[in-house]
Amino acid sequence: MNQEFKPVEFAEIEAARDRLDDESVVKHTPVERSTSLDELTGGEIHLKMEHLQWTGSFKTRGAYNKIAQCADDGEPGRVVAASAGNHAQGVALAATKLGVDATIVMPKGAPQAKVDATRSYGADVELVGDDFRGAMRHARGLVDDETTFVHAYDDPAIVAGQGTLGLEMYEDVPDADTVVVPIGGGGLIAGIATAYAERSPDARIVGVQAAGAATVPESLQKGDPVSLESVNTIADGIATGGISELTFSLIEEHVDEVVTVTDGEIARAILLLLERAKQVVEGAGAASVAAIISDELDVADETVLALLGGGNLDMTMLQTVLVHALSDREQLLRLRVRIDDRPGKMEEISGIIAGHNANIQTVRHDRSAPELDVGEAHLVFEIETSGAGQARAIIRSIRDHGYEVRHVNA
Ligand SMILES: Cc1ncc(COP(=O)(O)O)c(C=O)c1O
Repeated sequence: MNQEFKPVEFAEIEAARDRLDDESVVKHTPVERSTSLDELTGGEIHLKMEHLQWTGSFKTRGAYNKIAQCADDGEPGRVVAASAGNHAQGVALAATKLGVDATIVMPKGAPQAKVDATRSYGADVELVGDDFRGAMRHARGLVDDETTFVHAYDDPAIVAGQGTLGLEMYEDVPDADTVVVPIGGGGLIAGIATAYAERSPDARIVGVQAAGAATVPESLQKGDPVSLESVNTIADGIATGGISELTFSLIEEHVDEVVTVTDGEIARAILLLLERAKQVVEGAGAASVAAIISDELDVADETVLALLGGGNLDMTMLQTVLVHALSDREQLLRLRVRIDDRPGKMEEISGIIAGHNANIQTVRHDRSAPELDVGEAHLVFEIETSGAGQARAIIRSIRDHGYEVRHVNA
């Protein structure tokens, strides 16, 4: 490994904590128990509610530590960062609190809500580039003698700032056997794991990546950080597609295990947190819960502290997640019924469904499928049900009336 990358010392995390000792910048977020998750996992599950942090994520910790350090060194008149998400808001708030001008470059397609939020914390926002890489290139080009670039994870000051969350988590639940932390670029877990290595070296530190953006398992195998050409996950906060040498070296040293979770598991976790814990958590935040309820991670009989690192869940994403998760549980059921295309068929089948007290959301005719004979059609129903039991009963009834019926994905 390149020797110029120094690991982050525990003392730097303590120094970051002193810098961050201001409730209007970073507050001590609560921890809550979840008996529903206890039942699902067989462990004692504590949730660190960092999604309730100012700006809706932990990101202000690292950004403030970095900018404050630069200000102490007499550096920036201005900072610049590239981000489409939580880092943008963290840098914006941190810079404003420290009286430093900030320019955040966001890709042109960034959700308006995130652009507005970043501006509301006091930053100038430039919309440049078709994707994150384009925004990053432009942001790097803005750096000059007066301007410091604030990276989202590849910086010891950022890692140390995120490490303050590790100190807090340890103090909240000192006897945790397992600590579960999502990984994007790795700055968050690098900081937390460095804090735990000092405070509670026996705690098992588990990292979680989205299967469609998993870089760490392969990096650990190869002994070098690998990056992906493209990523595919609903958890945009951890869709980095790469880690750095700095974060990789700390992960290698201090993280015990890294598991991956699918988007389906993340969607289920978001829904579970909404329904049971009454918490709005974004995909990157819910990944920790997705891991403990998946088969990837066994936490039976353990005291577990799972980090919910962010709550900036896009409403369009929430809709996608709800449709996916409800379909998974068959509370939203899409059925394709083959019929002779004659008057009265739709009414008859609707009547069968109504007989089960299920609500039809939509219904449409489709005559284009190649397997249909002339004079045949498909009726595609989207139905709200009470769950898998009712869904099966409806399918059985339609079949008993002589129809060919298929359950198709919503
Ligand atoms: C909510 C949330 N959780 C976890 C992470 C992962 O942090 P890191 O990129 O430092 O690994 C991010 C990164 O943006 C995030 O926004």
